[in-house]
Amino acid sequence: MLEVKNKTSNSCNFFKNVNFIWAQDKKSLIGNSQTLSMPWPNIPEDLNYFKKITWGHSIVMGRRTYLNLPSKPLKGRKNFVLTTKKLNDNQIKIISNLNELKKIIEKSPSEKFFIIGGKQLFQATLSWVKRLYQTIIFGNFSGDIYMVKINYSEFRLINQKTIFSKANYQVNFNVFERLED
Ligand SMILES: NC(=O)c1ccc[n+]([C@@H]2O[C@H](COP(=O)([O-])OP(=O)(O)OC[C@H]3O[C@@H](n4cnc5c(N)ncnc54)[C@H](OP(=O)(O)O)[C@@H]3O)[C@@H](O)[C@H]2O)c1
Repeated sequence: MLEVKNKTSNSCNFFKNVNFIWAQDKKSLIGNSQTLSMPWPNIPEDLNYFKKITWGHSIVMGRRTYLNLPSKPLKGRKNFVLTTKKLNDNQIKIISNLNELKKIIEKSPSEKFFIIGGKQLFQATLSWVKRLYQTIIFGNFSGDIYMVKINYSEFRLINQKTIFSKANYQVNFNVFERLED
């Protein structure tokens, strides 16, 4: 059964089982369009957090993010990749447009979907999302791809944790949930 809630204030529809998960710096930097890599060195604490949150669920990504995965597919999770191209990988499910993705989500209301990026995917699915798993890495990094603008007044912070990584960065793990009215 379709689990969509109408939000009266801006008439967007969202799915209770759709989540975003991403890491950014304090200026919302998330990537580099030349290297397609993350702007920061590996932060094991964040990678472990990502694994813990997404394990056993479905992850959805754009082709450019897929290309940059260190190992493909990400094991222990159902991997969906949005692309209009052919990809030679029978361990992933290819989705060629947003309608197809929407139908898959509608058909599996008890499955958790995590949109894991990149920017194009976050932009396209922003109105669907119920929960935001945001990691903020405090440091000076270079790159040119920024997280989409999120109106945080439509969400409430439900969890927050701060750690200091072994690599000496302060890292905040924030979880927001969309307000329902
Ligand atoms: N910091 C983080 O947490 C994080 C997370 C993920 C990614 N990133 C970074 O983000 C960057 C990549 O982001 P990006 O925005 O450039 O690319 P992206 O969203 O990963 O991929 C874009 C591609 O996805 C496909 N796509 C997007 N919307 C589609 C639609 N509606 N229908 C069909 N296909 C669709 C298209 O593929 P085709 O061209 O094949 O049609 C498009 O070129 C990288 O630097 C990566 O490291 C950062």
